[in-house]
Amino acid sequence: MERTYLMIKPDGVQRGLVGEIISRFEKKGFKLVGMKFLRLTREMAEKHYAEHVGKPFFAGLVDYIISGPVVAMCWEGKEVVSVSREMMGATNPAKAAPGTIRGAYAVDIGRNIIHGSDSPASAERELSIYFESAELVEWDRTVQGWIT
Ligand code: PPS
Repeated sequence: MERTYLMIKPDGVQRGLVGEIISRFEKKGFKLVGMKFLRLTREMAEKHYAEHVGKPFFAGLVDYIISGPVVAMCWEGKEVVSVSREMMGATNPAKAAPGTIRGAYAVDIGRNIIHGSDSPASAERELSIYFESAELVEWDRTVQGWIT
């Protein structure tokens, strides 16, 4: 089953959007298989965004992503990479459709609340920055045994 790396950025945490964002992915039917609350080091941020070194927004992007804690997550499900990016909305929140996460809660490209891997290959690379493979939990989302 496909996996992706999703990260609630410092503005999403500071604005109290963690529960709302997680809820959207749970209700869609995706499965949470890994989660951490952490503050990125500058080294981690530069590794995560390595492909953007040299772009005009790079320094500001790194400063922003290390400015406060983030929620690092691994989600699993059918076509989760592309579907979760649809749910997030356009990178520039001003252009994001209203029902999407960025469309609903943001206006500034430099404060766009959430990151999502753009391909399965990116997901694998990004997940390896944040998680050991043993930290990604295999479990069955089917409800069993909680009511008799
Ligand atoms: S590019 O050049 O098309 O590859 O860039 P893009 O994929 O649009 O964005 C790469 C990440 O940089 C963030 N970004 C910005 N941050 C701050 N300011 C500006 N102007 C800016 N432009 C792009 C963008 O949100 C992407 O980060 P993630 O975490 O993937 O959303």
